[in-house]
Amino acid sequence: MSEIKATQVFHHAGTIKPADRRALLKQTGATLWFTGLSGSGKSTLAVALEQTLIARGHAAYVLDGDNVRFGLNAGPKILMDTRGYAEEQAKRFGLGFSAADRVENIRRIGEVTRLFADAGLLALTSFVSPYRKDRDAVRALHEQNKGYAIPFIEVYVNTPIECCEQRDPKGLYKQARDAVATGKGMGFTGIDDPYEPPSAPELTFDASKNTVEEGVALVLNYLSAKKLIG
Ligand code: ADX
Repeated sequence: MSEIKATQVFHHAGTIKPADRRALLKQTGATLWFTGLSGSGKSTLAVALEQTLIARGHAAYVLDGDNVRFGLNAGPKILMDTRGYAEEQAKRFGLGFSAADRVENIRRIGEVTRLFADAGLLALTSFVSPYRKDRDAVRALHEQNKGYAIPFIEVYVNTPIECCEQRDPKGLYKQARDAVATGKGMGFTGIDDPYEPPSAPELTFDASKNTVEEGVALVLNYLSAKKLIG
């Protein structure tokens, strides 16, 4: 097969304008990017928000790190066990938790959320997304979207690590501590892999101090104030 060069790909513009989609859905498509440690409450908040938005007649959809890692960004083992990928292929396309794989995880989700938001939806993401540079790249992708800027709202779920570790809903902090104690390490965010907090998030929420209902209200107020929802 001959090599396909990027120069042979062309952007094809559609005829539907953002205003047409706004009129249809009665909202402005946007991405709400929840970032924070594992167990900080990102998914709980995103899911509660999705439920409230839908109950109020808004089109919203949650993309969750753990869930997406079974499909679009499946890890090598899942690709081998359930899709019949050969080991070499599975390693090439499957995403784990190395720094390079996390970068690619966020890059792909950044592209997906831009498409969702461009289609007029409220895309809610729940990914640890530990590296500032990658989140900023997703922000730039939205803000420099062809033709018009798509709103990108970064929600920093800054629940203290002690609280996340105490909750440890999946037992992963314990695994990570054990792995560190035996000298192997696990590359677990917050324990032996870094988390870089956002420098200027639009919103901040601490699940150890506030209830989920308060978090939902915080985000809804922001969306209304910015006139993204009516
Ligand atoms: S990210 O770093 O690439 O953004 P993502 O949000 O998709 O991570 O997945 C994080 C989830 O995977 C965590 O909530 C946790 O359940 C699980 N996980 C498994 N291994 C790790 C690890 N080494 N570091 C962080 N999370 C991990």
